[in-house]
Order: sequence, then structure tokens, then C-alpha cells
Amino acid sequence: MGVSSTSLPRLSFFAALAGILLFPRHSVCASQKGTDTDTDGVPKYTFMQDATSAPSISYYDYIVIGGGTAGCPLAATLSQNYSVLLLERGGSPYGNPNITDLGAFGEALSDTSPTSPSQRFISEDGVINSRARVLGGGSSLNAGFYTRASPQYAREAGWDGRAVNESYEWVERVVSFQPPVQQWQSAVRDGLLEVGVLPFNGFTYDHINGTKIGGTIFDQYGHRHTAADLLALANPTKITVLLHATVHRILSRTKHTRKPVAHGVVFRDALGTRHKAYLNRGPANEIIVSAGALGSPQLLMLSGVGPRHHLKAHNISVVVDQPMVGRGMSDNPMNAIFIPSPVPVELSLIQVVGITNFGTYIEAASGANFAGTSTRDYGMFSPKIGQLSKLPPKQRTPEALAEAIQLMDSLDQAAFRGGFILEKVIGPISTGHLELRTRNANDNPSVTFNYFQDPRDLERCVQGINMIEKIIESKAFSPFKYQNLSAEVLLNMNASSPVNLLPRHRNASMSLEQFCRDTVMTIWHYHGGCQVGGVVDPDYKVLGVDALRVIDGSTFNYSPGTNPQATVMMLGRYMGLKILTERLAVDESK
Ligand SMILES: Cc1cc2nc3c(=O)[nH]c(=O)nc-3n(C[C@H](O)[C@H](O)[C@H](O)COP(=O)(O)OP(=O)(O)OC[C@H]3O[C@@H](n4cnc5c(N)ncnc54)[C@H](O)[C@@H]3O)c2cc1C
Ligand SMILES: *[C@@H]1O[C@H](CO)[C@@H](O)[C@H](O)[C@H]1NC(C)=O
Ligand SMILES: *[C@@H]1O[C@H](CO)[C@@H](O)[C@H](O)[C@H]1NC(C)=O
Ligand SMILES: *[C@@H]1O[C@H](CO)[C@@H](O)[C@H](O)[C@H]1NC(C)=O
Ligand SMILES: *[C@@H]1O[C@H](CO)[C@@H](O)[C@H](O)[C@H]1NC(C)=O
Ligand SMILES: *[C@@H]1O[C@H](CO)[C@@H](O)[C@H](O)[C@H]1NC(C)=O
Ligand SMILES: *[C@@H]1O[C@H](CO)[C@@H](O)[C@H](O)[C@H]1NC(C)=O
Ligand SMILES: *[C@@H]1O[C@H](CO)[C@@H](O)[C@H](O)[C@H]1NC(C)=O
Ligand SMILES: *[C@@H]1O[C@H](CO)[C@@H](O)[C@H](O)[C@H]1NC(C)=O
Repeated sequence: MGVSSTSLPRLSFFAALAGILLFPRHSVCASQKGTDTDTDGVPKYTFMQDATSAPSISYYDYIVIGGGTAGCPLAATLSQNYSVLLLERGGSPYGNPNITDLGAFGEALSDTSPTSPSQRFISEDGVINSRARVLGGGSSLNAGFYTRASPQYAREAGWDGRAVNESYEWVERVVSFQPPVQQWQSAVRDGLLEVGVLPFNGFTYDHINGTKIGGTIFDQYGHRHTAADLLALANPTKITVLLHATVHRILSRTKHTRKPVAHGVVFRDALGTRHKAYLNRGPANEIIVSAGALGSPQLLMLSGVGPRHHLKAHNISVVVDQPMVGRGMSDNPMNAIFIPSPVPVELSLIQVVGITNFGTYIEAASGANFAGTSTRDYGMFSPKIGQLSKLPPKQRTPEALAEAIQLMDSLDQAAFRGGFILEKVIGPISTGHLELRTRNANDNPSVTFNYFQDPRDLERCVQGINMIEKIIESKAFSPFKYQNLSAEVLLNMNASSPVNLLPRHRNASMSLEQFCRDTVMTIWHYHGGCQVGGVVDPDYKVLGVDALRVIDGSTFNYSPGTNPQATVMMLGRYMGLKILTERLAVDESK
């Protein structure tokens, strides 16, 4: 091999080549030969098939594990020049209105069956949460808000700024749109400006302090575009996408004094049949794990890469003692206030964001979902999807959840008129950890996030709630609240609602700190577990194992931007280009 990637004059070289390697726009059409669409606009990827039809043994240059938000753009990019196998444990997002329609937000998250596109999990903190189990990953389930990380975030990650911007643009040409901002979201925007979250930065993907309108992956018809749509840019002759393919183990070879080398994977199809895929011979071929913040550390551990004692306790033979696998798990706490409205409001997911200068992001969602099976639903804040803020986390039992759902279903439709203003804490600083519960890759691992363990996170929540109270009382927002319901009353309301109105007992001695702790929910931006510096190097190569990288949200120390998906997709594209570029340099130096 001779030339290691770190000895290349990396950044400037990479920036120059990234431009050359970018697919020209017309190649979107060129690649459509693998991507005919049917009459509903559903792409028919000729390279996508159910894993039951896969051979028992096959060989590729790259094996990408997890067809999620990072895995799809990564696999599409690598397939430009090399044979790629993309293994996704879930099914296709296409043709399922629970996933594709904005109005159905929450349907997939409410479905707790074993074949659901979402897999519910409850952290040890007691907050009910969900992870993706579908091609497109989190981008097939999420609230759609699309916004970049700041240039400073990219610098701190050691990324090349120009290649980052070009990778964002590559993603944006396919999946992002400008949302239609209607009355209620406009009132939140104006309320933010009135309380001083300035300046107004208009519609932009950029992360700048002040108030802005961000992008969305829902188009003007309310149809979702996911990371799976980026597979339309793959080279259809070089990529194979297998659905319902659950990877159970990464295989590695160890030759006494040398580092272990990853060389294959074991996966099972929907019928439970075992298959193996191996890397073709060739020093630069690799296995890349993109299984998300829960899946990636879990799979490394199942493959013998993790803390020795923990692996031994599960009878897993240790390939590398890697104590940092599963460390640094964080979930940004979300707290919200529901504001009933005297007038009807539009159905909206996140559109406006206030980027405060005290480390809290203010966002909002309005209207009830009346699609799919729901007739009455609080959307992003529905107990049907596990959001239950009227009880402190550890009291959110299955019985309490069922009771809240029953209560919600019994409410008059007028009770759903209104919206939520939420706050997400930057970072966060508090971190936790992940451990295996079983040796079965289908089972959730155990995860602890330690919400608000660091007092700075709690302080930011309190400041955020204070600001939301001011927005509710702002002149701009007044048409959308009952005049007899002050922000103070809203916070104290126990009334008819199963949602956030927790502090039925709030009194002078109940602090906003307690409110934050008791009403904490997830905004599903959990990350960590395979962080740069601890588990992977700055090129996302797993420390201590050759031919193995991790590329997804599990590598983040902090959640990027106000919302992460843009940066996760960007990272898949960016690292795909970087791998191609460095490989070209190695080949040419021969
Ligand atoms: C409900 C919800 C709302 C959100 N709202 C927003 C929002 O509005 N804006 C925003 O920017 N972000 C939002 N997010 C967050 C964002 O979607 C995630 O941060 C992002 O999708 C994570 O990407 P990832 O590639 O790290 O993981 P994922 O996208 O989860 O990808 C991991 C993939 O790996 C697969 N996998 C896991 N284990 C295996 C295995 N053993 N074998 C094979 N495949 C496996 C999974 O099925 C999954 O498809 C939201 C997330 C959720 C869940
Ligand atoms: C949509 O979700 C509902 C539950 O929320 C479920 O009952 C239904 O089967 C789902 N439909 C599809 C096509 O997955
Ligand atoms: C990347 O784009 C942002 C705006 O989105 C800009 O501020 C930044 O300077 C750009 N970086 C480079 C290196 O061009
Ligand atoms: C590990 O193996 C031992 C001995 O075979 C067995 O007693 C123990 O139950 C196993 N533990 C787990 C977690 O499988
Ligand atoms: C922008 O906000 C961040 C916190 O999110 C803060 O650290 C920074 O100082 C702010 N910048 C300005 C110019 O106010
Ligand atoms: C607030 O006023 C509305 C009518 O505008 C009334 O229906 C409601 O009961 C009042 N709520 C409270 C808490 O007083
Ligand atoms: C709600 O508040 C009313 C009066 O303020 C009280 O009588 C009732 O018990 C409370 N309900 C709950 C569930 O806390
Ligand atoms: C006030 O709230 C605190 C904290 O929830 C509670 O412990 C206390 O009993 C409450 N006091 C009254 C008088 O309701
Ligand atoms: C990819 O393939 C094309 C055409 O075969 C070739 O021109 C290009 O140099 C290759 N790039 C890399 C990074 O290998």
C-alpha cells in the first residue's frame, strides 16, 4: 500500500478534487436508467431487493451497514467507482403514506409492531424515544426541518469548508425545500423578533444567531423526500441495496502481532436465513458502519470491539478492547408548552427557529394531525408516539401512556386547535452511556442520556422556558392565545390536556428547574457512542481495527446546527468523496 491517507496533503488537495468529483447535474438523469418511476412518482430502484433473494456469499469493494441518513448518500457516492453493498434492516419508505405524507407525521412512530419503520426504546432516564428501522433512516420518520451546521462546527470537526458546502449543496438539490410559512408560524417568528432574537435572517439554511426560516424535506405537496432519494444518484450498475437485511456481526481476521482487519459481515434476512458478504481483495476496500447512534456502538460491541469486561460478561470474544465504545451518548432535552388557540391554525411541523445567544433553540409546530388512522392527535407531542410530558420521566409507564392516549382520544377536536413552542438545548453537555442488553442485534441496547446532569444544560432550559413565556405574551402572538390564559396559567394548567401541561402542582416553590426536569421529552437528536477521538480517528477509521470506519450521528460530540439531519447527510456525501479522492491519489502514486 505504501501511502497512508494521513500522509497526503489532505485539505487543499481534497477541496480541489471534490469539485472534479461532484456529479454533474445531468448525471441525475443519466442514472435514471436504474431509477424508473411508476405513475405515483415512486422510484423503482433496479438495484434494490429484499435480502431473501441474496446469495449466501457475495463480494464487494465496500459494505455499508445501515441504509439511513448517512448510509444512503455514502453508498451512492462510493458506487460512482466501486462495487457497493448497502445493508438495511428495514423496508422501503416508498409508497407508504405513513412515511411520505406530512399530515401523517407520527403514524410510523405510533406503530410499535416488529415490522414497523420505527423501533421504540426507553432510555434508562425514562424518556420514551424511537429509532429508525427503514431505508432512509431517521429522514424517513423525522419532522423534516433541514438546516446546516455553522462553519465553526465544521472547522472544529476538522472538515474542509469548501467540500462541506459542496456536499450540502449536493444533498439540497434533491431533498430540501422552502416551507410555506402561514399565520401561526409567522406569529411565532414575529414573537421571536419582538422578544429580541435578532436579526431576522429570512429563509436560509445557514446557522446564524437570530430568527430564521429553515428548509424542510417536505415538498410543496407535503411529500417527504428522504436520504433514500439520494440513491437516485448512485451508479446503478455498481450498487446493491438489500432490504430487511439485519447485520449481526462484522467479521475480522487477526494475525498475531498485527491489527485485526475487518473483512466481512454476517446478516440475516426476513426469514432468518444467514448470509455472508465479504470484501473483495484489495488493500483499500472497507466496511463502513452507518447504523446510527444506537446501532453503530451496539454492532461494534456485538463484533468484539468494545469494553473488554462488558464483552466478556456477554460471552463475546474480544477483538479489540475499546473502552470508549458506547460512551458519550447524549440526547438534547426538549421541553415544550402547548398554547390552545381561539382560532384555527395551520398544520405545520418545524419551520421557524430562534437561535438565541444563550445556547437554546426555539422551534414550533402547530395543528392536529388528521391523517391516517388518527382523528385527534398532537403530532410531534402525541402520547401515541411516546411523548408524555405531563408525568415525570420515570412515571411514564405503559399504563400512564395508555391513559394519556385514551384521554386524548376522548377530547373534543377544539382541544387540538393550537400549537407547541418548544426549546432544544444546544450540545448538550451532559452525556451518558450505552450497553448491550443481549447478544441479539434486533434487541435495543440499554442507553442512559443523563438529561440535565450538567447544570449548564438545566440553566439553558430555564432561560428557554422564560423566553417561550415571553413569546406567548408577545403582541405578535396574541391572536393565537386566549386572553384569559396567561403563560403562567398555561404552565400550570392540568386541565383537559394529556400533553405538556405538567405542573398541576406548580406553585411558588416549584422552580422552572423542576419544570424542565419533569416535562423533558426527546427531540430525537440523540448522538454519540462512536465519537471522534475516542472510537474513531478524524477520518472516521475505527481505532485498533483496519478496514473499518463508522460514519453517522454516532460520531458526533455535539448535535450539529439546530437540527442534525442536513449535516448527517452531508457527512455521508463528504466522506464518500474523501474516500474516493484519497483512493485515487493512492492508485495514481503506484
Ligand atoms: C421522530 C424524529 C424526528 C426528528 N426530527 C428532525 C428534524 O426535524 N430535523 C432534523 O434535522 N433531524 C431530525 N431528527 C433527527 C435525525 O433524523 C437523525 O439525527 C438522523 O436521521 C440520524 O442519522 P443516522 O444516519 O445517524 O442514523 P439513522 O438515520 O437512524 O440510520 C441508521 C440506519 O441503520 C439501520 N440499522 C441499524 N442497525 C442495523 C443493523 N444491525 N443491520 C442493518 N441495518 C441497521 C437502521 O434501520 C437505520 O436505517 C429526527 C429524528 C426522529 C426519529
Ligand atoms: C400506518 O400506521 C398505523 C399505526 O400508526 C398502522 O396501523 C398502519 O398499518 C400503518 N400503515 C402502513 C402502510 O404501514
Ligand atoms: C460555506 O458556506 C457558508 C454559508 O452557507 C459560508 O458562510 C462559508 O464561508 C462557506 N465556506 C467556504 C469555505 O466556502
Ligand atoms: C456465558 O457463558 C457461561 C458459560 O457457558 C454461562 O454460564 C453464562 O450464562 C453466559 N452468559 C451470557 C450472558 O450468555
Ligand atoms: C451566538 O450564540 C452562541 C450560543 O448559541 C453564543 O455562544 C455566541 O456568543 C453568539 N454570538 C453572538 C455574536 O452573539
Ligand atoms: C377563557 O375564555 C374562554 C372564552 O373566551 C372560555 O371558554 C374559557 O372557559 C376561559 N378559560 C378560563 C380558564 O377562564
Ligand atoms: C386539576 O386542578 C383542579 C383545580 O385546580 C384540581 O381540582 C384537580 O384535582 C386537578 N387535576 C389533576 C389531575 O391534577
Ligand atoms: C409546591 O410544589 C412543590 C414541588 O412540586 C411540592 O413539593 C409542594 O407540596 C407544593 N406545595 C403546595 C402548597 O402545593
Ligand atoms: C472514477 O472512475 C472514473 C471513470 O472510470 C475515473 O475517471 C476517475 O478517475 C475515478 N475516480 C476515482 C476517485 O477513482
